[in-house]
Amino acid sequence: MRLGVLISGRGSNMAALIEAARDPAYPAEIALVISNNADAKGLETAAAEGIPTAVIDHRAFDGRAAFEAALDTALRDAEVELVCLAGFMRLLTAGFVNAWADRILNIHPSLLPAFKGLHVHERAIAAGVRITGCTVHVVRPEMDDGPIVAQGAVPIMPDDTPETLAARILEVEHAIYPLAVGLFASGKAKVVGQRVKIAGDTSV
Ligand code: GRF
Repeated sequence: MRLGVLISGRGSNMAALIEAARDPAYPAEIALVISNNADAKGLETAAAEGIPTAVIDHRAFDGRAAFEAALDTALRDAEVELVCLAGFMRLLTAGFVNAWADRILNIHPSLLPAFKGLHVHERAIAAGVRITGCTVHVVRPEMDDGPIVAQGAVPIMPDDTPETLAARILEVEHAIYPLAVGLFASGKAKVVGQRVKIAGDTSV
């Protein structure tokens, strides 16, 4: 299955997907990486791997609809079948999300539905939760919302700072995003109503 990966910065989750796709048995390949920031470090990483990249800068467009139309055209031109948001810092409108219904995944560094939005690690530490983590979910028009594909749990240590916690969670992100994308790309994970059903998993 052909993936389009949308980034805004570092691109370490994108790199984890590239790494997974090196395995000939992996059911997906990265067809295109798009960044809305020309200086995103992840663009260099992708280009170094010979993966086509594009910059579609939202600031160059007159409104969200025009920006998203450009995204849509680039993804369709590259024959992308599944869109993976990987640190993509733009909210997508219902128009775009519905046009790609059940074909957009996102990774978020908390155990959704807890701690949607930004500054999640600060907020998790401040709330005193003992366990946080990361979630791969199917994208719905509401921010950080949608059927959950995979989650990883990560403990919060007493001396954690947002930075040390983010680093511990990121390692788990790099494991669960390729896993979740693989489940989708192979057809083993499917959206059924508001949930994701995974073949062979009788608990969901
Ligand atoms: C990750 O923590 C991801 O969960 C969040 O943004 C961060 C992106 O990091 N959505 P990277 O660009 O993949 O390194």
